[in-house]
Formats: sequence, C-alpha cells, structure tokens
Amino acid sequence: MALATEHATHTAHSMTVRALRPFYGRRQAVQAVNLDVRPNEILALIGPSGCGKSTVLRCLNRMHEAIPYARAEGAVKLDAIDIYDPRIDATLVRRKIGMVFQLPIALRTRSIYENIAVGLRLGGIRNKAELDARVEKALRDANLWDEVKDKLALSGLALSGGQQQRLSIARTIAVEPDVILFDEPCSALDPISTLKIEELLLQLRERYTIVIVTHNMQQAARISDRTAVFMVERTGDLPIGVLVEEGPTGEVFATPTDSRTEAYISGRVG
Ligand SMILES: Nc1ncnc2c1ncn2[C@@H]1O[C@H](COP(=O)(O)OP(=O)(O)O)[C@@H](O)[C@H]1O
Ligand SMILES: [Mg+2]
Repeated sequence: MALATEHATHTAHSMTVRALRPFYGRRQAVQAVNLDVRPNEILALIGPSGCGKSTVLRCLNRMHEAIPYARAEGAVKLDAIDIYDPRIDATLVRRKIGMVFQLPIALRTRSIYENIAVGLRLGGIRNKAELDARVEKALRDANLWDEVKDKLALSGLALSGGQQQRLSIARTIAVEPDVILFDEPCSALDPISTLKIEELLLQLRERYTIVIVTHNMQQAARISDRTAVFMVERTGDLPIGVLVEEGPTGEVFATPTDSRTEAYISGRVG
C-alpha cells in the first residue's frame, strides 16, 4: 500500500477533508468541515478558543479517536488514501502525518538523542551508525544541531523552551512524515524563540505540507499561505465549532467574507 512506502526524497503531499464531523460522545464538536490542504503549503487554522481547531487538527491524523469516547465521521484523505479506511493502521497514519504540540512534555524524561532515536527504532532502524546519522540529520533539519551536538546524552530538560520545541520538531521529522500538524507550537515561547520556529516552519514548507493551529493572528499572517477561520456557534445550549471561511491568507485578512472573521481579526472578539 502506498502509505507504507518510505520516501527517499520528499515529494508533495496533499490532504482532502470532506464532511468531517468530530464527536465527543454524542455531542458533535464541529459542523461538517470541508478543507483542502495543498502540497507544500502552510495552512493556518485560526479562531477563538473552543471553536474546534485542535479537534479538527487531531482528526487529520487520527489522534482524535485516541480519546476513548471520541470519534469522527466523514472523509480525510492523504493524497488518494482514505486515512480512515479500516484496513489502514492508525499508528502508521500518525507516522505519515506527524504532530507537534504546544508543550513537549515527553522530551523531559529522555536524552536529546533518545528523543529522536526512539521513533526511528520503532520504524525499524537498529544499526547504530544509521541511527546516529538520522538523529544528526533530524537535528540539523530542525536548526538545532549546532546547539546540542555536544550534549546529546543530556535530558531534554537541559534545553530552553524554544530548543525543546525544535527538538520536538526534530523528533517528528526524523521519521520523514508527509504532512506535519502543529497545535499552537509557539504559545509557550518568548518572541525570539517564536521567530526561530516560524523561520523553521518556512524552511520545512519546502519539503512538507503543513497545517498549523495558532491563536496568534500575526503568526498566521506572517507564515501561512492559506487560512481557515473557525467560530463558535450555539445550537440550543451547546456550542459547536464552524468553519466560516477559508482562502489565501492575504485575502482572508484584507477582505474577509464573513463579518465574524472581520470582527475577530480586527480584535473586536475572541
Ligand atoms: N477531550 C474532550 N472531551 C470532550 N469535549 C472536548 C474535548 N476536547 C475538546 N472538547 C470540546 O470540543 C470543542 C472544541 O474544542 P477544541 O478543539 O479544543 O477547540 P480549540 O482548539 O479551538 O480551542 C469545545 O467545545 C471543547 O469543550
Ligand atoms: Mg486548541
């Protein structure tokens, strides 16, 4: 199956989301989402807290269903492959569509080297020289190698927040995913570390397709090619997220079609 092949070189990958409806128990969290993620673009998901950005993002690599009472209906494709096809292993999907979170907590219990080596070993790489080479490459690609090459055996805790986040990115790209999902990767970082991550994201766009959730609209404006805007609506007593518009980032920010987007990006709500 195509999903299982390792890519020696990075080719462009797209994602297609059709009528995606995420549920928590019996409650639908977001109204049906239709979205295209184009090859080698950065798509930003923005909107006020609780509008469903993280939920939708987690549906893109089947992390959502890791919550016991959570499930999703609809279709999500990576290129031509339906990632919800029952014959496809969710673990494999999560390798091909990697995810970077806000707080890289797991980094703290392992050495810098091991943080990256673990995923590579799970992927079948056992040879020490090959592991070393792949770890170094991932750290170089995450703009971190020069800062950590002399302390690979130290815990991730020996790093600053910004370095920890680049280590987290290194861990994700080490297994050579097709798409990388970021959920508020800079929300715990200072402005300088944030800019370093943004630079890195722009570099990674040359080789990966990227979806980023951010509550920082300036960040979306700075780095994304397209922006999808979510809002919260109420049906009876229950809030439900809704995708209100999507388009090229410049257009969404300059001439939003939805009045709620306009209010949100001008800082009047959210
Ligand atoms: N684990 C969960 N269990 C139940 N409801 C959840 C869970 N995570 C999120 N939700 C609900 O789903 C909706 C969307 O949340 P979320 O995707 O976290 O929004 P955002 O990332 O935009 O802040 C909210 O109403 C939230 O309360
Ligand atoms: Mg969130």
